[in-house]
Amino acid sequence: MAERDLAVAILAAGKGTRMRSQLPKVLHKLGSLSLIERLLRTVLTLKPQRCLVIVGYGQEQVRRALQEYPVEFVEQAQQLGTGHAVQQLLPVLEDFQGDLLVVNGDVPLLRAETLQALLERHRQVQPDVTLLSAQVADPYGYGRVFCDAQQRILELVEERDCTPAQRQNRRINSGVYCFHWPALARVLPRLGRNNAQQEYYLTEAVKLLDTAIALDAEDAREIVGINDRRQLAQAYQILQDRLKEAWMEAGVTFVDPDSVSLEETVELAPDVVIEPQTHLRGVCRIGPRTRLGPGSWIESSTIGSDCHILYSVVSHSQIGDRVWVGPYAHVRPHSQIGDGCRIGNFVEIKNAQIGSHTNAAHLAYLGDAKLGSQVNIGAGTIIANYDGQQKHLTEIGDRSKTGANSVLVAPLKVGSDVTIAAGSTIPARYPVPDDCLVIARAYPVVKPGWRPGSAAAGRPQPLPTGSLRVYPLRLLPGQDLKQELERFAR
Ligand code: UD1
Ligand code: CA
Repeated sequence: MAERDLAVAILAAGKGTRMRSQLPKVLHKLGSLSLIERLLRTVLTLKPQRCLVIVGYGQEQVRRALQEYPVEFVEQAQQLGTGHAVQQLLPVLEDFQGDLLVVNGDVPLLRAETLQALLERHRQVQPDVTLLSAQVADPYGYGRVFCDAQQRILELVEERDCTPAQRQNRRINSGVYCFHWPALARVLPRLGRNNAQQEYYLTEAVKLLDTAIALDAEDAREIVGINDRRQLAQAYQILQDRLKEAWMEAGVTFVDPDSVSLEETVELAPDVVIEPQTHLRGVCRIGPRTRLGPGSWIESSTIGSDCHILYSVVSHSQIGDRVWVGPYAHVRPHSQIGDGCRIGNFVEIKNAQIGSHTNAAHLAYLGDAKLGSQVNIGAGTIIANYDGQQKHLTEIGDRSKTGANSVLVAPLKVGSDVTIAAGSTIPARYPVPDDCLVIARAYPVVKPGWRPGSAAAGRPQPLPTGSLRVYPLRLLPGQDLKQELERFAR
């Protein structure tokens, strides 16, 4: 038999009163994606001929949020219930002869496999409707489903309309249904509002149909409907568990899974170790044997193999192999750090390209910079990249070293094999060629016998010449730097 056509309808017109929010419920975020986007991505994998989204409350916002998706919007101007929402499809699907998958917009964790199983059962048994049910520990808030031994639906009662005895039933309606549309279209006009909420219930349509069967979802966790913030948090937990279980399966260690969070866009290689209190967001790729955390935030970044990121923040950056970052480092957007680097305690890096085996181990700021390989950044080195109006570039060549407390005022180009003496401030644009020592600091003045109030104290003293000079000093093999410096000074 030829397969019937498939259309999908997502109910997304409700306000979501129980969320107590300005935002339409289906636009609340679960991780990085809104509830409806998650659902939409899943239903689109079924490749339906048409995908209809029923909108009402906050519809401009919902339409805008979904403008990139191949969907048609159908307006439900007044929200008179789930049955009323589906009634809006009568003119839209007038000539449609196929199956209609109806999904509540607030069921974001549904898996494609589950929908596929529902469709298969529906096509095999061919009832008027196949309803996705589930057996749950806490059925509170859901409609209850009563079936006979053949899974034929005998009764369907909303929580509010249940008797105390009916409330004991733990089999619930997930809000996902596959209808044979011509059959549903015949009963839709007959819905009444004789219930606790005085709404048109889609569940009543199920009861009016001749043949209605239920299929239990294999994993009841995926059908949680989000009505309030508590359920939103529950769903987040389920999503996190699902992701971590999959990565553990793939060879990743989570030392304390519950204290870690990640997104679907994160890719982890085998033998990655995620320590406690570590969070990954956006598109991240982490290489083999890399250890993240404890206490790290990694956002939209690529990190190579055998790295360790300890108590640090890395965002929108690329880090090579065997790099040590932290503790307490901040790698800000657009940074590339080469293999074998060490970015240590209290180091901030922004928009910087750093070659391999370069170290910035303590207390530094490297912003808008290009560093070569095997550079050593001394403790307290600051790149002064901002002149109050603009940011400028600083370049440092291979094997150069900055002494402790150096300030490099951008724009600046420091050659390779340069040593900058501790405490030097190199002014912007000052030429610093390859292979030299730069000393740019005031030298101490020692006055023997000086006391406060002594004759010399009040008088202005001639200032030592603290002006900057660059002396090219080439060391030949076998020469000693200290000796040569002394000779030079003489
Ligand atoms: C519904 C089901 C309940 C089921 C539960 C599963 C009915 C009457 N009840 O209850 O059996 O256990 O889902 O999660 O269907 N909506 C509209 N227009 C409206 C009203 C609602 O588009 O006029 C949309 C909402 O935006 C929402 C979805 O329909 O996405 C479900 O509505 P909601 O009020 O959350 O229904 P529940 O009370 O959860
Ligand atoms: Ca709901």
